[in-house]
Amino acid sequence: MGNNLVRAAICGTGSYLPENRLNNSDLEEMVETSDDWISSRTGIRSRRIAGAGEITSVLATRAARNALDASGIAADEIGLIIVATITASSAMPSCACRVQRDIGAGNAVAFDIGAACSGFVFALDMAEKYIRANPAIKALVIGAETLSNRVDWNDRNTCVLFGDGAGACVLAGADDGRGILAGRLYSDGSLGELLHLTPLAGSNPYLGDSPPAGAGVDFSLLGRGNGEGSYIKMAGREVFKNAVRAMEEVVEKVLADLGLSGDDIALLIPHQANIRILENLAGRLGGDPGKIYINVDKYGNTSAASIAIALDEAARGGRIKEGDLVMLCAFGGGFTWGAQVIRW
Ligand SMILES: CC(C)(COP(=O)(O)OP(=O)(O)OC[C@H]1O[C@@H](n2cnc3c(N)ncnc32)[C@H](O)[C@@H]1OP(=O)(O)O)[C@@H](O)C(=O)NCCC(=O)NCCS
Repeated sequence: MGNNLVRAAICGTGSYLPENRLNNSDLEEMVETSDDWISSRTGIRSRRIAGAGEITSVLATRAARNALDASGIAADEIGLIIVATITASSAMPSCACRVQRDIGAGNAVAFDIGAACSGFVFALDMAEKYIRANPAIKALVIGAETLSNRVDWNDRNTCVLFGDGAGACVLAGADDGRGILAGRLYSDGSLGELLHLTPLAGSNPYLGDSPPAGAGVDFSLLGRGNGEGSYIKMAGREVFKNAVRAMEEVVEKVLADLGLSGDDIALLIPHQANIRILENLAGRLGGDPGKIYINVDKYGNTSAASIAIALDEAARGGRIKEGDLVMLCAFGGGFTWGAQVIRW
C-alpha cells in the first residue's frame, strides 16, 4: 500500500434471487387488486418469493459466494461479515454467523445490523470505517431479505410491494483513488410507526400505545399486532412523502460535501421501492433517467437487499466503468436514510 489515502473499495459483487416469480396477475387472484393499479402506482410487475428451505441466510450465502468469486478473494481472507437484514430466520445465531459457517470464513467477525431498507448503505458505512481503521481488513457486506415471511398476504396495501432476494459485495483497502469517497446517514425514530413490523404475539411491543407527540401524522391509519405473526404495516402516502424528501436532501448534501453536481455522477443506484420515487430522483441528477438504475419492476421492494442486488446487476451488466462515480441512496423504516458516493 502506498502513501496515498486508503479507502474502502468494492472489488466484487454478487446477488441471488429465488426462482419463484409472483406476477401481478397472480396477486389479482389473491387480493382485490389489478396489474394496472400495481404497475401504475409502483412500477412493480413481478417479485421473487423464496422457496422451501430458502431462509434468509441461504440467499445471503449464495450472493456472498458470487461476490467472493467475482473478487478473487478467498473466504478465509475475509475479516468482517456484516449482514443487513430485518428478516433473519433467527436473532441468534445471526444471519451473518450462519453465512460465516456456510462459506467457511473462519477468520471473520460476523454480525447483523437492522436499518430496514437502508441496511445495506448502513452496513457499507460500517465496513468502510473498519477498513479505514485497518486497511488490511477485507469485508463482506450483504443485504438479504425474505420479506415474503413478513407480509400479510391478505393486506393489499402491502403484499403487492415486497419481494425476496440478496446482494453482496467484497470490500478491501485501496490507495489508488477507488472506493467510498463520502457518505451520510440519518435516522428519525419519531416517525417509526409509519412503517413497522407488528410485534409478535406475547412479545413486549416495541411501540407504545400513544403516538409520539408532534409528529403531525395520522397514526390511526396503522394497525397493531394481530396476535399471530409479525407483519409489515405502512402508511403508504406518508412514507412516500418522507422518502422523496429525505432521499433528495441526502443526495444533495453528499454531492455538496464532495463539491460535485449531479452531472458528475455516472449512475445513481437508489433503494428500489417505487418507480415514482426513482423518477423524482432523476430530476435531481439533471433529469437524465438513464442515470438511474431501475429494477423494481422485476423484484419489487427487497428492503436491505435492493441496492446490493441493483449494484451487482449494474456492475455485471456493464453499466459502471472503471473510474465512474456511483451514488447509492436509501430510505427505510425507522426512519433511516443515507447516501454514499463511490469511485469505481
Ligand atoms: C403504497 C403506495 C403505492 C400507494 O399509492 P398511493 O397513490 O399513495 O395510494 P393510496 O395509499 O392513496 O391508496 C389509494 C387507494 O388505493 C387502494 N389500494 C391500496 N393498495 C391497493 C392495491 N394493491 N390494489 C388496489 N387498490 C389498492 C387503497 O385502499 C386506497 O383506496 P381508498 O381510496 O378507497 O381508501 C404508495 O403510497 C407508496 O409507494 N408509498 C411508499 C411505499 C414505500 O416505498 N415503502 C417502502 C419505503 S422503504
